[in-house]
Amino acid sequence: MKHSIKIRINGQWYLGDVETGMTLLQFIRDEAGLTGTKAGCENGECGACTVLMDGKPVRSCIILAVEADGSEILTVEGLREGDKLHPLQQSFIETGAAQCGFCTPGMLIAGKALLDKNSNPSKEEIMEALGGHLCRCTGYKSISKSVEIAIDKIK
Ligand code: FES
Ligand code: FES
Repeated sequence: MKHSIKIRINGQWYLGDVETGMTLLQFIRDEAGLTGTKAGCENGECGACTVLMDGKPVRSCIILAVEADGSEILTVEGLREGDKLHPLQQSFIETGAAQCGFCTPGMLIAGKALLDKNSNPSKEEIMEALGGHLCRCTGYKSISKSVEIAIDKIK
């Protein structure tokens, strides 16, 4: 069965006739063509597919597209501010926190969600916010350091 839905992603509305079982992740990648959001485990466990949905971080692989009908989504492509990278993106580059880069979009969105609600989080709060995100490359230190550097940049 098909459903007509519309989802606002990074400020632009995307319309689609989607099957009931299509996930928000599939809608973002296949219907909107925004492939920055990664498909990892597709089981809600790795965090690679994290986006903001109405301002809250969600794992888009376990949300149905129909459940997101009418919602506002922010993906990694929407992080930059005009011509400038978001401070989190800048600091990830500076510290080498993105290696293979597969986890990076989800980490960046988790970092943004944290800084949106708490502009001066402690190290523990940073680790807690990133805690459910798996990275096979960096050992997490450079990622948490990047968030600390971004906090200074934003100040
Ligand atoms: S791809 Fe969604 S949590 Fe892993
Ligand atoms: S940078 Fe490779 S999985 Fe995190």
